Amino acid sequence: MKLGGSRVWITGASSGIGEALAAELAGRGARVAISARRAELLERQAQRHRMVPVALDVSDRAAVLAAAATVRDELGGIDVAILNAAAYGRMDVAAWDPDVFRRQVDVNLMGMVYGIEAVLPDMRRARAGSIVGMASVAGYRGLPSSQAYGPTKAAQINLLESLRIDLRPLGIAVTTVCPGFVRTDLTAGNTFRMPWMLEPADAARRIADGLAGGKAEIVFPWQMMLAMKAARLVPVRPWSEILSRQATTRHLS
Ligand SMILES: NC(=O)c1ccc[n+]([C@@H]2O[C@H](COP(=O)([O-])OP(=O)(O)OC[C@H]3O[C@@H](n4cnc5c(N)ncnc54)[C@H](OP(=O)(O)O)[C@@H]3O)[C@@H](O)[C@H]2O)c1
Repeated sequence: MKLGGSRVWITGASSGIGEALAAELAGRGARVAISARRAELLERQAQRHRMVPVALDVSDRAAVLAAAATVRDELGGIDVAILNAAAYGRMDVAAWDPDVFRRQVDVNLMGMVYGIEAVLPDMRRARAGSIVGMASVAGYRGLPSSQAYGPTKAAQINLLESLRIDLRPLGIAVTTVCPGFVRTDLTAGNTFRMPWMLEPADAARRIADGLAGGKAEIVFPWQMMLAMKAARLVPVRPWSEILSRQATTRHLS
């Protein structure tokens, strides 16, 4: 994919990976529009990097469609849509809260669905374009306290794979990004060990390199990719035994 000169819309760009990726892509010559809820952060970033800020809540379908229309007006079109916004909330089996679950479905999954809805008609007409979805290796297997976040990421991985099949003949590329741990607000509250942690700028460089190389799937770092792809081969019973032993140790410590 040619990044220089391309018109990129990225959601979840007020902090973390999205913020770093927007800056990385602007640095590589892309024209970038950035979206998230915190308008003041978007404004500041837009001034620093000459981007177009468009505030929105991705769980609000009408707001996503309106924001995409604004971005199209400002940039003259959208070549690359990076659907990156997400929320993380730990689930607690001692206080099962469907609202925590619903929030993550609304933001992570429905937010991506609305983003696709917003860009797909124009891309189909143009028979060109690229949809990039930010999933996670956390979607590969069930993980402790991840009964909401994990399923949204697993659903994103499957959705994007399915979408790639149907959009390929139309000339529209679909890229699935699955980072390992990255030091952002999303991981700031984690109390467990996070191996192979990357800084957002490093993650952004790897994603931009993957996009430039036309990859369908970008998974990093390689240690996490190997560990989590191998984890998918572990049978269900030993997987849950190992993970619940670790979770119990954590709860006891
Ligand atoms: N950090 C990691 O280790 C890691 C690993 C794998 C995958 N990921 C994925 O990477 C992506 C970015 O996460 P991050 O780690 O960079 O976390 P982050 O710093 O918390 O970024 C999340 C972004 O999403 C936006 N957002 C949240 N709810 C929103 C809503 N309702 N509407 C619009 N924007 C919303 C936030 O902005 P506002 O609050 O301003 O709306 C923020 O810009 C997510 O998809 C996450 O699942 C992260």
